[in-house]
Amino acid sequence: MSGAGKIKAPRGTSDVLGEQAAARAVVEERARALLEDAGYERIETPTFEATELFARGVGASTDIVQKEMYTFDDASGRSLTLRPEGTAPVCRAYVEHGMHKLRQPVKLWYCSSFFRHERAQAGRYRQFWQVGAEALGSEDPALDAESIALLARLLEDLGVAQVRLRLSSLGGHAARREYRERLSEHLRANEERLSEDVRARIDQNPLRAFDSEHPGTREAMRSAPLLSEHLSAQDAEHFAEVRARLDAAGIVYEIDPTLVRGLDYYTRTVFELTSEELGAQSGVGGGGRYDGLVQELGGPPTAGIGWAAGIERILLAGAVTPEAPAPVDLFVAYDGVADHAPVAAYALLTQARAAGLRARMELAGRSLKNQLGYANTLQSRYVAIFADDGQVALKDMGDGSQQTLGADEVVHAVLRGLHAL
Ligand code: HAM
Repeated sequence: MSGAGKIKAPRGTSDVLGEQAAARAVVEERARALLEDAGYERIETPTFEATELFARGVGASTDIVQKEMYTFDDASGRSLTLRPEGTAPVCRAYVEHGMHKLRQPVKLWYCSSFFRHERAQAGRYRQFWQVGAEALGSEDPALDAESIALLARLLEDLGVAQVRLRLSSLGGHAARREYRERLSEHLRANEERLSEDVRARIDQNPLRAFDSEHPGTREAMRSAPLLSEHLSAQDAEHFAEVRARLDAAGIVYEIDPTLVRGLDYYTRTVFELTSEELGAQSGVGGGGRYDGLVQELGGPPTAGIGWAAGIERILLAGAVTPEAPAPVDLFVAYDGVADHAPVAAYALLTQARAAGLRARMELAGRSLKNQLGYANTLQSRYVAIFADDGQVALKDMGDGSQQTLGADEVVHAVLRGLHAL
């Protein structure tokens, strides 16, 4: 082979190593405990899905579907897409497994990686992880409040600082359609002030104009009609009921009638949590209702609400300190025997693990002095040192005492010693 150059991980992706991996495990474990206590069950959906799921579910005019999906044809010519988000897959699974026949609402949570071809920068990646929670089969405003409260609680528990919760209602599909017309009219009347991007999507996705940073567009949006002023009586009532329950739970929020989310499936309640700690990519988590999505995917009319929070962003804005690794019970060392561990040492390691001990052994041919140093770093309680004659010196690292034993007596002695602690 010729001397090949180094291969790097693709832009916008990264390896998760050491402490980072341990910190993620803390987030996942905290989410699991919180959500399972609230009746959510874990779901895993495939990493890739039929492209049509996202085109239909997330919306053909969204940035995600138009420019951010990793889509490819497989060997049989079927168009597949690496999941850019988790809600459409969960709804697909709900329909596919006939979950409408189960007791409602069906509550599901996930912790998975997602893929979007976005401009990579701090806090924005092309492969990222989300913890998410979806509850299907109920339009009770108490479920909206419960869902939002769980996300707020998770972020609080994980020490995510300076969190702001913004809340709005997008109304039902009919109100939204009518409102989009009105907003498109407003944008057309102000066309010359708009950015090119917004102008190009006046008919397709006028709501995104609220997200624009372009000065002319922002100016034009100041006098734009607001969806919250065009809610039906029922939707307005639903929103008032959600707020009453959030108030009852002591959740602090701001109503933001310009809150638009980048996915098309939302109806009624939408929310976003941002942290000042994060700078430009301030969104830590967000979600909302998607009462028409299951039906859009071929299922029965089914209400749904949920959220997802970005794990990388939680870690950037949070105060997660992973637990230190547990101390080792027994380190198996050896003295003066070539550069490979003796078979008897390996046999002892195996025996110790079978007995439930956290056991490690020397595998890199270090000097005995360095083996002891290493055992110390691992906070080993005992070190078993094999001598050439097969006898073992068992050293108690706590008090420095040492006894000579036969190899088959070591595990017992360690168990007895640990028990006495
Ligand atoms: P989303 O707002 O697109 O919603 O993503 C949710 C969270 O995922 C964001 O707040 C952010 O923390 C994280 N996130 C999104 N894109 C990236 C990225 N490129 N790099 C790093 N983190 C990112 C959804 O995905 C919806 N499925 C949420 C939902 C669930 N709605 C209802 N149910």
